[in-house]
Amino acid sequence: MRAGSGTDCLRRTGRQYGYFDYPMPVRSDTRAIHSCLADNGDMSRITELVINGLSHQVHASPERSLLSVLRDDLDLTGAKYGCGEGQCGACTVLLNGEAVRSCMTPVSQAAGKPVTTVEGLERDGQLHPLQAAFLETGAMQCGYCTPGMIMSGLSLLGRKANPSDAEIVHGMQGNICRCGTYPRIVAAVRMAALHAKAARRTS
Ligand code: FES
Repeated sequence: MRAGSGTDCLRRTGRQYGYFDYPMPVRSDTRAIHSCLADNGDMSRITELVINGLSHQVHASPERSLLSVLRDDLDLTGAKYGCGEGQCGACTVLLNGEAVRSCMTPVSQAAGKPVTTVEGLERDGQLHPLQAAFLETGAMQCGYCTPGMIMSGLSLLGRKANPSDAEIVHGMQGNICRCGTYPRIVAAVRMAALHAKAARRTS
């Protein structure tokens, strides 16, 4: 085994867990592993990320997923890991204003571009109107899909200010709620659109 390789770093920084007697990383170990890899030259690039308006420099190999960097390096855990294959939408964030599956987005693709996560939506302690609408309509049960739903809803409202229910359903395709709160999710997006329309009238 090459000293400083990924496996070596796993062995040196991981912990023994479960039945398999193999050092499996847990979340708190991830930073140590990345730092070990960086020390040994395995992390080939420092990537500049602009997350929620703040600039971050991260040691990351270009092919690591944006989701992994957000959650494990930057402690932005709003975006969730669901399927890891681009099929569930739990990891959705905005990249350049467009909804992307961060589990399938290499971090190099996000370099220098604005990334918005659910943590970046509130302003001065006030929830974003779409977040408020999700709460008002009770559009969640377990809540695991909610950040991804909100980011996809935001992207949809950015493209279409006043979508019909059918357009909301179509626009949110690919975001899965295992609790089945879809009717309330549609109601939340509709409510946010109506609030935004009313706000535009009065401004
Ligand atoms: Fe990214 Fe499911 S975790 S789409």
